[in-house]
Amino acid sequence: MSTPSANNPLEALRPVLELLADGEVHSGQALGTALGVSRAAVWKQLQKLEQFGLALESVKGRGYRLPGGLNLLDAAAIETGLSAAATSLLGELVVADRVDSTNAQLLGLLERGGGHGVAMFAEQQTAGRGRRGRSWVSPFSGGINLSIGWQFSGGVQLLEGLSLAVGVALARALAEFEVPDVRLKWPNDVWCRGRKLAGVLLELSGDLTDRCAVVVGVGVNVGLPQGAAAAIDQPWIDLNSVCAGIDRNRLAAAMLNQLLPLLDSYPECGFAAYRDAWQDLDQFAGRPVCLRSAQREWRGIAAGVDNSGALLLEVDGERRSFHGGEISLRGQE
Ligand code: ATP
Ligand code: BTN
Repeated sequence: MSTPSANNPLEALRPVLELLADGEVHSGQALGTALGVSRAAVWKQLQKLEQFGLALESVKGRGYRLPGGLNLLDAAAIETGLSAAATSLLGELVVADRVDSTNAQLLGLLERGGGHGVAMFAEQQTAGRGRRGRSWVSPFSGGINLSIGWQFSGGVQLLEGLSLAVGVALARALAEFEVPDVRLKWPNDVWCRGRKLAGVLLELSGDLTDRCAVVVGVGVNVGLPQGAAAAIDQPWIDLNSVCAGIDRNRLAAAMLNQLLPLLDSYPECGFAAYRDAWQDLDQFAGRPVCLRSAQREWRGIAAGVDNSGALLLEVDGERRSFHGGEISLRGQE
């Protein structure tokens, strides 16, 4: 699959971005010389960067800088970090500058008969999505936005519990970078220090009783600018505030190293192979929680998950199980 140029509107600005990526001050003149263009042309390019939400700072009498610098995603750097297993399972790696939603892009590919094994990363999503029509805030270079397409036969029941298993895979990838205090919140969140660090969104297409496909969408916050994060209506956290300096390309590769083998083996091994690992990371195990659907709510003590990934809740001395879908879990403490 060739990368549609519409997904890479920054292509012409890559050289100036790479110069500014070190976070240091660069004069207009130095940028012009390095790029082989006039100062007026530099100025135009810098204005365009701001349209991507990049907080370019003008330092009086000295030049311009991107505070904090930039660690851009790069397909070659991601490929370098892939394991042999992930390399053999990867159909294609796409790194886009800006898309509506990597999940939407992958679903489109799958509906056109392609997409198996395709992993798409995007620096920015303009319509990043969460569950049930909610949105996922994904400003330029603020995190890892990844979707992987996977086709399989045997019907959707083979994927029971997959969003929880993906959470385990993400926790394992984060453990490689010694990210502290990572926990999982049923059914699809990765938390850190009691706040949301990452989310998982699975979307299906095809014949759900036979040959079908899943898009595994994952968003991880790396360094969310405060301005963009103002739109998030619950406690959130990013990696930079707990464990600064993680290379996004290495993290992207670590995620693929976990997720591709997971997808390959999941129809055979199912959630049972991940249940213990999930329970070891359970944010709410043994704690009072409230489950809400559109119609009602249940209060009880969270008691882990069963072999299908259903949440177990102790309600008035009775153990009940709840499947994902329309249900939200909140702590009661
Ligand atoms: P539940 O699955 O229990 O309903 P949830 O409230 O986390 O949990 P989701 O649909 O899973 O809902 O995720 C979308 C929500 O995540 C958004 O409504 C918003 O509150 C939050 N959110 C959006 N972007 C981010 C982000 N970058 N980091 C953390 N949280 C975010
Ligand atoms: C959630 O917590 O509800 C899930 C958030 C999932 C966000 C990721 S970012 C990459 C992929 N593309 C999307 O539009 N959503 C997922």
